[in-house]
Amino acid sequence: MMIRFHCNGKPVQVDVEPNARVIDLLREDLGLTGTKEGCGRGECGACTILLDGKPVNACLLLVGKIVDREIVTIEGIAGEDGSLHPIQEAFLDTGAVQCGFCTPGMVLSAKALLDENGTPAVEAVEEALSGNLCRCTGYGKIVEGVLEASRRLTEGQDRGGG
Ligand code: FES
Ligand code: FES
Repeated sequence: MMIRFHCNGKPVQVDVEPNARVIDLLREDLGLTGTKEGCGRGECGACTILLDGKPVNACLLLVGKIVDREIVTIEGIAGEDGSLHPIQEAFLDTGAVQCGFCTPGMVLSAKALLDENGTPAVEAVEEALSGNLCRCTGYGKIVEGVLEASRRLTEGQDRGGG
């Protein structure tokens, strides 16, 4: 079936099997391999994308669910010049990235949180990341990465930047 949706701000039209998973559409049809598949069962969060701004597991999502909706993958949050998003920079600077397999999903879950609540408490960060598993990095560093991103984004706004 032919479906239309927006991906990372651009209109997309593709011919897909109705029972195809969004993670396969992204990785195989659109070449957006930043979205990772870990468990394939909705348990690890490695495949997290944003659907109309909310984090969802792309491994459980069938293509019919994204028709006429807006999805954002990790490729979609970079600056126009290819620069890293402030959340990605904060993760690197706080040591929140080791193998990096969980990182795209973590970053997108963090983005959904910070878009709603720019200055979350530690508990809110932990709650927002509760669906994202990391086998390498201590969660302390990941939570610190999100809090650091919150500080940087808030300071940027205070200075009139973005
Ligand atoms: S691969 Fe989707 S939740 Fe693990
Ligand atoms: S950095 Fe390796 S799984 Fe999280």
